[in-house]
Amino acid sequence: MAYLVGDVSSTARCFPLMDGKPVAIARSSGPYVWDESGKRYIDTVLGFGGTILGHAPDAVIQAASTALLTNPLPAVNHPSEELAAAALAQRTGNLNKVIFTNSGSEAVHLACRVARVATGKRRIVKIAAGFDGWLDGVAFGNVGSAEARFKPGQRPSNGYVTVIRYNDFNDVEQVFSEFDDIAAVLVEPMLANAACIPSVDGYLAHLQKTVRQNGALLICDEVLMGFRLHAGLTSHLYGIDPDLVSVGKAIGSGIAVSAVVGKAEYMKVAEEGRALRGGTFSGNPIACAAVLATMPALEKADYLALQAHGNILRESIIESFAKHGRTVCTSGYGNVFSIWFSETPPKTYDEGLALVNNELSLALHMHLRREGILIMPSPYGRMYISFAHDAAVVAEMQVAFERVAELMSRAVVGVGA
Ligand SMILES: Cc1ncc(COP(=O)(O)O)c(C=O)c1O
Repeated sequence: MAYLVGDVSSTARCFPLMDGKPVAIARSSGPYVWDESGKRYIDTVLGFGGTILGHAPDAVIQAASTALLTNPLPAVNHPSEELAAAALAQRTGNLNKVIFTNSGSEAVHLACRVARVATGKRRIVKIAAGFDGWLDGVAFGNVGSAEARFKPGQRPSNGYVTVIRYNDFNDVEQVFSEFDDIAAVLVEPMLANAACIPSVDGYLAHLQKTVRQNGALLICDEVLMGFRLHAGLTSHLYGIDPDLVSVGKAIGSGIAVSAVVGKAEYMKVAEEGRALRGGTFSGNPIACAAVLATMPALEKADYLALQAHGNILRESIIESFAKHGRTVCTSGYGNVFSIWFSETPPKTYDEGLALVNNELSLALHMHLRREGILIMPSPYGRMYISFAHDAAVVAEMQVAFERVAELMSRAVVGVGA
């Protein structure tokens, strides 16, 4: 592996060695992935949440393959671009103007640009420890960074971005008293990238009210949470009325596609050419075919059953560890949750920092990997459950967790890295 920098093109995809070897996935289908040696894993990383229907779902693969074979990359408009926008917009309420992009990072980038042009202000306020993509504009104050943790009076900022503490009501007013150039506040409806810290009651509504009072826009970054809890936006499920939303991952179920959905009054800055939108591959037929195949599948999908499957698993993980003398809890939802080695999950990132246990999270990853379950190795990671994870798959996971809980009651070290 002399040519590929760091063995993989995205840092997050760099998993630890086991027995001196990296894990390289050669094939994937439904809830499973197989490594180069043919070993099968139940996958809970699921393309970092990008495969909500499971790996390689027939409908999406067929639609994308047809587009690939018949019309892969016309330079100009093509019929399925408007159809895909309509399919998305029908499920995003008053955010009914759509611009397709290719990755979540690009969608966030474009949403921030639209907000800047629409308000004539330049500053984006983002949540400390949130991850809103890897582009320069917002790659600041991410989980684990020095800027993500700060005390009152020490607010980390650069020329364009400032952070606030999640679930801290006062910090919202405070930031608007400190800066008069805020274009938008950018928030994940659940702080999923810091291990699924949910918003406390009233926080998002308070954020929205304060943002409006100060003439800024509310951008919800739903690249991870959009279409994950129902066939629509999580912010809408929570009763929040954002101005712009970035979506990605689930909307194409395994094919690279993302989008900004927004209110017409703000998206018009792109329509009128005052905010540049671009991209050789933005809105390409393969991506649009994936959206067109995914939307009806999600419309029909039983999200409640999916949550219930995951909740059964969450309960049994807690029980298995308790049986073997270790306290764990989980945060999030049945189909996207994190495991904490503590009695209760944190309500804030600062509380989370005090609870994370890198050694135990890594040990859990390694033991489960040997048992044929793939989870993220980071304490800030999440477990995703897709519509392809049926009751039998969940039962298999329960058995593996029981064995691992037992193994981890004996020793955490010596997992064979
Ligand atoms: C909330 C959120 N925003 C933005 C991104 C960036 O998306 P992408 O990796 O597709 O660029 C991610 C990716 O994990 C995300 O979780």
